[in-house]
Amino acid sequence: MITPNMHYADLEDSYLFYHIAQKTNAYLREHPQTRLLRMGIGDVTLPLCGAVIRALHEAVDDQAEKERFHGYMPECGAPFLRKAIAEHYRKRGVNLDEEEIFVSSGASDELGDILDLFDRSSNALIIEPAYPAYVDANVIAGRKIIHLPSGEENGFLPEPSPGAEADLIYLCSPNNPTGAVFNRAQLQRWVDFANRNGSIILFDAAYEAFIEDDTVPHSIFELERAETCAIEICSLSKTAGFTGTRLGYTVIPKALSRQGMSFNEMWIRNRTTKTNGVSYIIQKGGAAVFSEEGQRQIFENIRYYKGNAELLMRAFDHLGIWYCGGRNAPYLWIRCPNGMGSWEFFDYLLNEIQVVGTPGEGFGSCGEGYFRFSTFASREDTAEAARRIVRLLEKA
Ligand code: MLT
Repeated sequence: MITPNMHYADLEDSYLFYHIAQKTNAYLREHPQTRLLRMGIGDVTLPLCGAVIRALHEAVDDQAEKERFHGYMPECGAPFLRKAIAEHYRKRGVNLDEEEIFVSSGASDELGDILDLFDRSSNALIIEPAYPAYVDANVIAGRKIIHLPSGEENGFLPEPSPGAEADLIYLCSPNNPTGAVFNRAQLQRWVDFANRNGSIILFDAAYEAFIEDDTVPHSIFELERAETCAIEICSLSKTAGFTGTRLGYTVIPKALSRQGMSFNEMWIRNRTTKTNGVSYIIQKGGAAVFSEEGQRQIFENIRYYKGNAELLMRAFDHLGIWYCGGRNAPYLWIRCPNGMGSWEFFDYLLNEIQVVGTPGEGFGSCGEGYFRFSTFASREDTAEAARRIVRLLEKA
């Protein structure tokens, strides 16, 4: 008889955002007339920008013509998109070979798939609070997880320390869920630590486009010697509104190897075996993001979300509630008022003012007592949520 992967039994009952959706839907079934304001999952609300839409239409038309039709795409990405991404890095002072860039169907898919590169006996360091998929993907693989808690005392940005010498190290900056960002010096310390210990950093850069501060690196490859210890996982989901369209990219330097094995070559072998590439149409849309017009338009959208962050920050400043994030990231991480637990605060907001956010505990036990707001809702909903929160908490 087949033996299932018993590690599934070690997972939490349900995935965080699925659990929130179920709770929210149950509330809506009982209160169908409610105007619910969703500030939970970080899903974008603005449509794709004009340059991307035009490129998508043109690519659809290509598929209608014998001479311009595309079948299977190169498994590691279309040369035109890899070139556009390499150029984007070059403008930032990071020189990558196009073959170091792998086009993916999104960062969340890739964060799970990339684990194929590492032996299952390797362990993984996860700084918590953390995006829950890091933990779940490693639990499914049966990998040992070292949880490194962070808190207000270190700005949710722990330094490398004894005990953190794991085989794999997850770093996310700008951070989901806290919005905290590593500056150059802090990130360099993690890079040096990883190189010293032979660890590999999985750097989740899904939110880099939200960085405003010059002292904050957008890419780990802006740091010295990162090419010998890091893989960078990027996404167009939040950068350019591709949450539903699905597109991302991963950088695996050719200099990254352990025990004579090149991770770049291994990933080529993996992709050519396990995928047939991302669709031509979507990759054409993705390439438009890196055009001058595309960059201008996506930053207009990002400015809009930053306007939402401003409204929420003003509300929490007014209420005297501690928070971080919001400036270099599309999330605000607040301390729950009046010592409430994070699920308690979730229920309180849902039942009293019909605002949905994400309980900090869903990102690990040290997130208990904290709560995350996404800034990706519409301006109207964000403004209304801020008003409702102020009204509710002023009298609490
Ligand atoms: C989040 O809300 O944390 C993200 O939207 C989830 C994701 O990117 O998969």
